[in-house]
Amino acid sequence: MASFQGMAAMSDFGSTGDLASELGACFGPHLASVCGRSARALEACGYGALLVHSGSALTVFEDDRTYPFEVNAPFKVWAPLADAPDSFVYFEPGRRPQLFFHRPADYWYKPADLPQTYWSRHLDIRPIAERGAVRALLPRDLGRVAYIGEAFAELVSWGVGAINPARLMRHLDYERAAKSPYELACLREASRLGARGHLAAARAFEAGASEFEIELAFLKACRLREQELPYNPIIALNEGAAVLHYQILQKRAPADRHSLLIDAGAEFAGYASDITRTYALRDADFGALIGRMHELQQTLCAGIRAGVDWRDVHLRAHALTGELLREADITTCGADEALTTGVTSVFFPHGIGHLLGLEVHDVGGFMHSPEGGDIARPEGHPFLRLTRVLREGFVVTMEPGVYFIDQLLDAARTDARADKINWSRVAALRKFGGIRIEDDLAVKATGCENLTRDAFLAVQG
Ligand code: GLY
Ligand code: MN
Ligand code: MN
Repeated sequence: MASFQGMAAMSDFGSTGDLASELGACFGPHLASVCGRSARALEACGYGALLVHSGSALTVFEDDRTYPFEVNAPFKVWAPLADAPDSFVYFEPGRRPQLFFHRPADYWYKPADLPQTYWSRHLDIRPIAERGAVRALLPRDLGRVAYIGEAFAELVSWGVGAINPARLMRHLDYERAAKSPYELACLREASRLGARGHLAAARAFEAGASEFEIELAFLKACRLREQELPYNPIIALNEGAAVLHYQILQKRAPADRHSLLIDAGAEFAGYASDITRTYALRDADFGALIGRMHELQQTLCAGIRAGVDWRDVHLRAHALTGELLREADITTCGADEALTTGVTSVFFPHGIGHLLGLEVHDVGGFMHSPEGGDIARPEGHPFLRLTRVLREGFVVTMEPGVYFIDQLLDAARTDARADKINWSRVAALRKFGGIRIEDDLAVKATGCENLTRDAFLAVQG
């Protein structure tokens, strides 16, 4: 079934007239800017048109079922269809983009209705009964057409000029970092849906729920199916929070519950939110450490504006983490020494944030320019996903954390870092797993808009 999950969510929550009219007003300019940047990229790379595939449903081995469909991001920037496998967008500069919408004759599954919503009048939409039918609707000679998507079998005979040409892809991916007003409206709504889910999850935690039950509370409050989320929620009670992408979702709550780390986002019209909160059940000391991490995170958010080099944000996060660890009596050395000796990386081993948009870890995080060249990560920081200088319209996450990870602590115990760590304090905190606080920020010329904190305020009512 092809659906526009965002629209469903809007109507489910009722008070959406303003959002619907905002989206209606700003989709046209958004599409015009996608057309403009695509035309420039095609010209720079020597192509005459673009053919973008939404993707195909993958069949399970030896079965007739398919895995949940994931639409290709380069397709959904043109048409916010979450669930339209084997559809295509064809774009020739100077002409209206065409959407070839897969609508099979089928009595096993319900065929999708042709889209009729705020964005549909901006594209020429034509149904196709099967994937191959699009070929007859395209120009005879596709020699100057760049195709984007997986290369399915019959594509070979279509004579497209190039399949996923790297230079063109790079141009398109580079531009995706700066969001249009339409995209920002979608991201705000994704944050509001995510905030509803988080509030319900926090209540479920207080009521004694298991990890699995907390996920159900999150999904119900967002009114999204698991497959409609932008990533698998990370919902970890107690020491599970020390696993950065914890995925287990235990169905029974542990006898002793100390803490919850929930990293979960929602999706709206193809755009993601990525939100983390950590809660202590009753331990005042750990609760104070969480409060301190909120302060640290807000200090970092306050430094975000266009022109800031993200590598500096990451290194500043390490410096502030060094201070926090010292104040909390987790380390025995000063912040500078903790940073230079790699002690902060024992407790904070991931990047401070990443680009966010059509994908939760969005593309283009290292690109120096559309033409080429990557910006290296700072030495000793292999997991940073963004190294660019921020520009207005970029949307990034800000997600500092402190964790008690056995694997990293065991390594530190055997080298020169060992005497810089207060091991009895670490042993006492280990049962809480760790803390991460993550907000989504839209970069402005002189500051940033905190999509997440605004969303919590809006839905708290
Ligand atoms: N949810 C994955 C991340 O925060 O990057
Ligand atoms: Mn996250
Ligand atoms: Mn993130």
